[in-house]
Amino acid sequence: MQNYKIAASILNADFAKLGAEVTSVIEAGADMIHFDVMDNHYVPNLTVGPIVCSALKKYGIKAPIDVHLMTKPVDNLILDFAKAGADYITIHPEASEHIDRSLQLIRDAGLKAGLAFNPATPLDYLEFLWDKLDLILLMSVNPGFGGQKFIKSVLPKVSAVRKLIDSHKKSNILLEVDGGVKLDNIDLIAKAGADTFVIGSAIFQSRDSHKVTLNKFQKILAST
Ligand code: DX5
Ligand code: ZN
Repeated sequence: MQNYKIAASILNADFAKLGAEVTSVIEAGADMIHFDVMDNHYVPNLTVGPIVCSALKKYGIKAPIDVHLMTKPVDNLILDFAKAGADYITIHPEASEHIDRSLQLIRDAGLKAGLAFNPATPLDYLEFLWDKLDLILLMSVNPGFGGQKFIKSVLPKVSAVRKLIDSHKKSNILLEVDGGVKLDNIDLIAKAGADTFVIGSAIFQSRDSHKVTLNKFQKILAST
């Protein structure tokens, strides 16, 4: 079986008991925590910053923290999140004046570097960055909110990036899809070539327990 990973997005978790929510979702089988950072400037919403990331680490969360920066600018926050214990930091190319420098900042801090593409952002940015990336994130909603509908036209884009990863012999790069991932579409997204799935509302707003929900996702992935 392919090595699939589930990154649970905390955006729809109960922030009043975040430590317990994150512990529960990791115990239920999520591989990492997807930490959405929004600044009410690059995207029209405001969430949490490095203080909350370091609080989760101090609380005892050992699972990798996959920070998705939807902020402009990014460079200072890269340094702050590195200090706060992040493992991955993903930036949007539109949000950095010097993408190569921002990605190098992430790597120099000893973290894994990701580049995120909005649904309408072309893939050209990848051309000179293959040696700087540990993760490529394809947004399947426009960034800013949890609980949005999956944009189907992203599926061919997922396949296109998988082909590029293969042709550049970069199978170590994670291909992550973010937004609207549900029980009824994760198989299609996996078949298109994704290996890492951000799942927010489908976990945290489900009537089932985290364990039951994660088991359902894993079962589908195991048979894909
Ligand atoms: C949207 C965020 C996503 C979102 C995913 O801007 O980047 O990570 O929280 O949540 P769902 O799974 O509800 O679409
Ligand atoms: Zn995200």
